[in-house]
Amino acid sequence: MKHFINLKNISSKDLRKILKDAKKRKIHRKKLSTLEVDKGAPLKGKLLVQMFEKPSLRTRLSFYLAIKQLGGGTLTLRSNELHLGGGEETLGDTAKILSTYGDGFMLRSDSDKNIENFRDYLSIPIINGLSPSSHPTQVLSDIFTVEEIKRKPISKLNISWIGDSNNVLNSLIIAAVKFNFKLNIGCPKNYMPKKKILDWVKNHKSKIKIFNDAKKAIINADVVFSDKVISLNDKVNKKKKLSQFKNFKITSKLMKFAKKDYIFLHCLPRGSEVEEKVFFSKNSKVWQQALNRVHVQKSILLYCFGKLR
Ligand code: CP
Ligand code: NVA
Repeated sequence: MKHFINLKNISSKDLRKILKDAKKRKIHRKKLSTLEVDKGAPLKGKLLVQMFEKPSLRTRLSFYLAIKQLGGGTLTLRSNELHLGGGEETLGDTAKILSTYGDGFMLRSDSDKNIENFRDYLSIPIINGLSPSSHPTQVLSDIFTVEEIKRKPISKLNISWIGDSNNVLNSLIIAAVKFNFKLNIGCPKNYMPKKKILDWVKNHKSKIKIFNDAKKAIINADVVFSDKVISLNDKVNKKKKLSQFKNFKITSKLMKFAKKDYIFLHCLPRGSEVEEKVFFSKNSKVWQQALNRVHVQKSILLYCFGKLR
């Protein structure tokens, strides 16, 4: 049984294997409609329980389709509808029940500790569907999208991130180490990546640079990533934070510093960090990016269920 909680704990070899499987499966689905099952129905009879402690559109739908296309089924729970949410049942007992009824558990949580606690009590695999510190399914899928569009291994490309040092960036930083790619980060001085992640990077070989200047971070970029300045449940003075990012907005003027054929990616939902002119430009591949979550998460599920070919 394998969990998918943080890219840190998964080997580069396994991550590459997941992407390879996703590529094959995506090609084989070309003639199939949304709910048709992949040949061999590798997860036939399996139930994935999904639980969301905060909102989600893409993660919820993509895991629904992912398990369905593999021949299994899913049930979505809201934590506030369980006894656990009201404090009337322990996490341990809840986890035991989830393990009895279900075969896998996908959790979007407001607490990294919660995900770890569930992992300790569950006897089925757990997948992190976004936590305060990481968004690993998103970022692995984004690597897939980059390589699909650029038709090159990501290690041969210049990747830039302009924006907040949040959960998505943390996972991108770990991916930069795991897949050995150049990552230039552009963020304001007081919104630098946290010490914990920088310490992890220090102990690994990496090609990561941090600039407090968006232009410097974007020069020669093949891929430009961004995300909302205010994340879900970000407990900050929103007005103040937004004003501190005014020089880090993705504008067509800024994009002139990237390569001519750069692509723009954003996990969505978006805020005001990206100009519509860029967001709706031909360089923006955000819809393809969103749909690829289904393909990559299918291979993540197979990895967790020990069924990766
Ligand atoms: N990108 C992403 O995880 O979107 P949702 O919050 O809608 O799931
Ligand atoms: N950083 C964002 C990602 C949303 C998918 C958040 O945590 O809200």
